Amino acid sequence: METKIFQKDQIQEAAAALRAGELVAFPTETVYGLGADATNETAVKRVYQAKGRPSDNPLIVHVASVAMVEQYAAEIPDKARQLMAQFWPGSLTIILKINPGALSKTVTGGLSTVAFRFPNSVPTLELIKEAGVPMVGPSANTSGKPSPTTAQHVYHDLKGKIFGILDDGPTQVGVESTVLDMSTNQPVILRPGAVTKADIESVVGSIDLNHHHVGKNETPKAPGMKYKHYAPNAQVYIVDPDDDWSAVMRWLQQQAFPVGVMAEQNILTGLQLPSNAEPFSLGNGINDASARLFDGLRHFDDEQNVKAIVTQAFPTSGLGLAYMNRLNKSAGGAHFIDALSREK
Ligand code: TXA
Ligand code: MG
Repeated sequence: METKIFQKDQIQEAAAALRAGELVAFPTETVYGLGADATNETAVKRVYQAKGRPSDNPLIVHVASVAMVEQYAAEIPDKARQLMAQFWPGSLTIILKINPGALSKTVTGGLSTVAFRFPNSVPTLELIKEAGVPMVGPSANTSGKPSPTTAQHVYHDLKGKIFGILDDGPTQVGVESTVLDMSTNQPVILRPGAVTKADIESVVGSIDLNHHHVGKNETPKAPGMKYKHYAPNAQVYIVDPDDDWSAVMRWLQQQAFPVGVMAEQNILTGLQLPSNAEPFSLGNGINDASARLFDGLRHFDDEQNVKAIVTQAFPTSGLGLAYMNRLNKSAGGAHFIDALSREK
């Protein structure tokens, strides 16, 4: 199959493909998603195949109205309605109890809940309205790889496997939505994102943050948590705020292969980069860094010999919590000091 790139004036064509059961990747403000008609079980199954995604990892259902949620949720609690009013369209995914039988097990992974998201993307909201059905949408990457923040990233991973990609340029936020479970009495954040705990608490009062690490044989609350995530080919090392960048440069110089260096522009500018250093700028500040993180990790997959990537850490406040959550996973928890001590 030849994968088509749809421009914003071709939404009708993309919507027709979705209605016909085809897969069409779509932009959002966070990352690109892999779209299929959520009410078409065959189409949804093909989403798992195209990504190579484990079948027990449920999908987010993207909607273009609260009325669409009402069709599939058992009920919408008041607090959830308040959050929708405040943050939709936007980067907050809300998990609610499902109206039994309203969506196939393929969408929910057999859970009694569904995750709903109203993305802040004009073309994608038009696409959903035009298709007339809600759209499942995991991130449009091969399972295990960093999420795509451009149509080119999607094309790289999924060309020939999907019908098309609706291109709206690079995404703004760069890390996936906050996932908030509201199916229980006490709401809990299962995945941090751009809508922070403090943002949510300013509307509905105290909520929890899930810090639990999931073991291999355990069924996690957010099923995606147990799988390998955001992993480029090279080993990623986190450079913590207390680490000395000149020590990083000395280590780097001793390596026999090229090393990627991901840091803010002002840090890169101040470094004496050895000839085997491949710089990638994270811009200036946590907003830029979050928007560029996955692009950087993917960039080094195309640089043949890069076997390690050192990446700047940020404080875990605000959006920094989401950034560090993704960076930690892509590094498998490895810090620069681990690389150093291993060589001693
Ligand atoms: O920003 C985003 O959320 C992007 C864009 C495309 O909208 N989508 C995205 O989807 O990141 P995905 O499938 O890559 O991540 C969704 C996460 C997974 O970890 C999944 O396990 C969890 O949400 N999830 C989905 N439904 C759930 C449910 N009913 N209960 C608990 N976790 C759920
Ligand atoms: Mg994903």
